[in-house]
Amino acid sequence: MRVVVVGGGVIGLSIAWRAATRGLAVTVVDPEPGRGASGVAAGMLAPVTEVHYGEEELLALNLESARRYPRFVADLEEASGIRTGYRASGTVAVARDADDLAALDELVDYQRGLGLDVERLRSRELRRLEPGLAPGVRGGAVVAGDHQVDPRRLVAALLIACRRAGVTLRGERAAGIRRRSVILSGGQAVDGDAVVMAAGAWSSGLEGLPAELAALVRPVKGQIVRLRGAGTPAISRNVRGAEVYLVPRSEEEVVVGATVEERGFDVEVTAGAVHELLRAAIELVPDVTELGLVETAAGLRPGTPDNAPLLGTTAWDDLVLATGHYRNGILLAPVTADAVAELLATGVAPTEIVAFSPRRFERVLT
Ligand code: GLY
Repeated sequence: MRVVVVGGGVIGLSIAWRAATRGLAVTVVDPEPGRGASGVAAGMLAPVTEVHYGEEELLALNLESARRYPRFVADLEEASGIRTGYRASGTVAVARDADDLAALDELVDYQRGLGLDVERLRSRELRRLEPGLAPGVRGGAVVAGDHQVDPRRLVAALLIACRRAGVTLRGERAAGIRRRSVILSGGQAVDGDAVVMAAGAWSSGLEGLPAELAALVRPVKGQIVRLRGAGTPAISRNVRGAEVYLVPRSEEEVVVGATVEERGFDVEVTAGAVHELLRAAIELVPDVTELGLVETAAGLRPGTPDNAPLLGTTAWDDLVLATGHYRNGILLAPVTADAVAELLATGVAPTEIVAFSPRRFERVLT
């Protein structure tokens, strides 16, 4: 069984690695693996903190992937010899003012109603847990199961694991798609028994892709800043505010994210976005002001009409979609990789991804 994966981000590489270890002959097509959204993402693994009202099916998938993360990174670290930066740090959700607190209380009620592990804390308790938080914060909640990973390390580890598992990497851009074939920008065709579309926000751009499929994925811009300094982090858990999140890494770095902007394929970093992210971060964690600003970046999330990924076969039964992960691409890598490798190897979609079939959108049924 020969598989061609379009896209060498965390999703495409995870699928390639898991499929290759099941004995499939896999080729990944990407001119710059890991340089898309995976290279910008903060790596917060936050199914509970980022739950949205009415998205319970997506929550179940997110929780399942979070559950698989420790095993996934242990396997990957063994296969590659690279540490992924996975940290079971936990997360605090923080309310800065009375409005934030009212919204947070409502969200905590919803989360607890779903049986999720969330503990509401008063301001003093919160600051005892995280002394780096501003004295004025009004209260919050601790989510013990929302963690983090370093997406750049994850990509580095996946590239090595893929090579060791026999995956072929073609460093060219995929320009077109046909039944059982991907056309490279130079015109050459890479044939397979199946093609996996895992090109994130760029999934819709391939010539020859049925228009009704292409219409399902759109780019959603996210800007982030990376800060560094001696003594960082001033916080030990991820911090989630109403307008911003902070992800403290072990190696003296804090990632602050992220805007959510509908601007097509624009990846310009704007002064206003950086200003707003830093202002909101400093309001929550004042010591952030002392850190060096080492990087600003913008990435494109692959959005879908219902914010959930597209996982499974299409009307072209040899074309498998593994895209549209929107805000959860890093989080959903383990479950996506396991499920898509299973689908490719057996022809049967495992139950956890059935609800996320692209065929849920009526227009791709035929
Ligand atoms: N999950 C974080 C983000 O998309 O910004």
